[in-house]
Amino acid sequence: MSEPRKILVTSALPYANGSIHLGHMLEYIQTDMWVRFQKHRGNQCIYVCADDAHGSAIMLRAEKEGITPEQLIANVQAEHSADFADFLVDFDNFHSTHAEENRELSSQIYLKLRDAGHIATRSITQYFDPEKKMFLADRFIKGTCPKCGTEDQYGDNCEKCGATYAPTDLKDPKSAISGATPVLKDSQHFFFKLPDFQQMLQTWTRSGTLQDAVANKIAEWLDAGLQQWDISRDAPYFGFEIPDEPGKYFYVWLDAPIGYMASFKNLCNRTPELDFDAFWGKDSTAELYHFIGKDIVNFHALFWPAMLEGAGYRKPTGINVHGYLTVNGQKMSKSRGTFIKARTYLDHLSPEYLRYYYAAKLGRGVDDLDLNLEDFVQKVNSDLVGKVVNIASRCAGFINKGNAGVMVDTNAAPELTDAFLAAAPSIADAYEARDFARAMREIMGLADRANAWIADKAPWSLNKQEGKQDEVQAICATGVNLFRQLVIFLKPVLPLLAADAEAFLNVAPLTWNDHATLLSNHQLNEFKPLMTRIDPVKVQAMTDASKEDLTASQTDTGEAAPAGNGELAKDPLSPEIEFDTFAAVDLRVALIVKAEHVEGTDKLLRLTLDIGDETRNVFSGIKSAYPDPSKLDGRLTMMIANLKPRKMKFGISEGMVMAAGPGGEEIYLLSPDSGAKPGQRIK
Ligand code: MSP
Ligand code: ZN
Repeated sequence: MSEPRKILVTSALPYANGSIHLGHMLEYIQTDMWVRFQKHRGNQCIYVCADDAHGSAIMLRAEKEGITPEQLIANVQAEHSADFADFLVDFDNFHSTHAEENRELSSQIYLKLRDAGHIATRSITQYFDPEKKMFLADRFIKGTCPKCGTEDQYGDNCEKCGATYAPTDLKDPKSAISGATPVLKDSQHFFFKLPDFQQMLQTWTRSGTLQDAVANKIAEWLDAGLQQWDISRDAPYFGFEIPDEPGKYFYVWLDAPIGYMASFKNLCNRTPELDFDAFWGKDSTAELYHFIGKDIVNFHALFWPAMLEGAGYRKPTGINVHGYLTVNGQKMSKSRGTFIKARTYLDHLSPEYLRYYYAAKLGRGVDDLDLNLEDFVQKVNSDLVGKVVNIASRCAGFINKGNAGVMVDTNAAPELTDAFLAAAPSIADAYEARDFARAMREIMGLADRANAWIADKAPWSLNKQEGKQDEVQAICATGVNLFRQLVIFLKPVLPLLAADAEAFLNVAPLTWNDHATLLSNHQLNEFKPLMTRIDPVKVQAMTDASKEDLTASQTDTGEAAPAGNGELAKDPLSPEIEFDTFAAVDLRVALIVKAEHVEGTDKLLRLTLDIGDETRNVFSGIKSAYPDPSKLDGRLTMMIANLKPRKMKFGISEGMVMAAGPGGEEIYLLSPDSGAKPGQRIK
């Protein structure tokens, strides 16, 4: 046996000014499943998190509610902790960034950076609210767009025409807080000299710490050259005052990642066997992973390792980035009832349904993940209830009635129990690589084999025959053993199901290595139903409740930093294009007149498209999702009409139709709302 690994894991710290929703839960569930897997395997794995409690958004919200920021963040922390616990997210510590450990570590790290010459100061000019007596972040300034003249736009970009600009470009600017006309004012700011770490970052970001897509994006930023990062804000601000600089506060994003350390430190302070330096010291041999969403890559893969390096700490082993959650193929929406708070979900449904669904769809990539509510019901019911739990419920009754609940010691399907044993390393590799989707596919493949075998043996018919009782007992004991192996494989995803199964199996908590053994001559406890099917009515009730719930979470800090501070675009994984590039694409509504198989290919369909004034021939690689092409006849879709014609083996393809999804059976051809006419331009 190899030595157990020492691993410290974090999820991003949720803002303390709003509720947790199912988008957040994607991250916490993903991390929790990985951590549980590590613990299941016998590794030392510690999972810490905290609320991200600082910033002007929190200060202003507290003021609006007539409470202190401390009261607000205490209330929110209680709410968040309950949400996580009820989703079975098992932190070893859930702390707050507004804590003494964090103040000390933030000051100490800042002073180390300052004393090593990595901090610069200079004066910057910003809008100031003369009534509120505070500097205004871009999001707190509203005015008329300098480009298209639309009123009531934010200080950094126009929602109407998409223009981006500096707040000083806005016409007729107003403070969004007091309504006063802001004035320009100078103030001294503190900057972290990120360019000092260019070399180190170039190496570190290419050393296996990042997924390829993330490393490529970072390489673009590094090639463009790094800028200094503004880490200070003026009073009034809810945060930590900068040492030796009265009236200046650390920007929330400076002390937020240090909150990972602070949460761990807080845990160390009450756990004598945990040593802070063994995990964070320069020579630490422990592994350190941060799980985050794709919107906060710059903070974790550039600023954070640079801060750690500059202050003499170890750097992360890996930054694990996931994509965004969509619901029914669209951004979560309050009016559609798909902006679902964690609590609203829990009011209607069991947490393990969602944990399994996320697991079944989460790969190692940074693609967005869609929670399709119909598919959710169907998949959970068919996999968990129909396949996994079914095995136990088919076998338990016969053992109970026929042999007083004792499993006999005959293995009726050695080839099957061997196959389960042989599958374990590959399932473990998939978990380790965060390819939960592959792990679930392989586990369900085994469940299918177990069910097929039991169906073939049909103990329910044998049991009615004279002299077949021993065979029935052997089949059912084997079935229960196969079920137990599946439970061991699924335990990181379904800890409650596993606990209930352990009670039924009458065994101590199962660990990964238990999959190598089988139960024999073993007394079972009474079988109780382990999981019920999802009733679609409950899903409807949940979306209805979400529609009513219009005070839904606000997860933005409201904290766009002053221009030129080295911060990067909001969605770093989709490169920006100029409007002209977009405008050059001729997008049209197209009517599929005919869709047909193409001789000699198993991928392509030939589509005859009507785009108003002409007919186009397009080959499209969507056959895997539409095996019966005639179903597409007469349907509207969207096409790119000015793509250069492409000569293929089967003819010339004159454009491209638009579809979404990862591929295979999951390809979704896009369609306009009804009423659109073939040939209409899409703008
Ligand atoms: N407070 C910062 C993180 C500081 S970490 C030192 C923050 N908070 S957040 O509440 O906005 O987001 C917390 C995590 O949830 C982030 O990793 C973010 O990417 C993730 N998600 C928030 N909305 C999400 C979806 N809709 N889908 C998937 N993940 C999402 O950022
Ligand atoms: Zn505009």
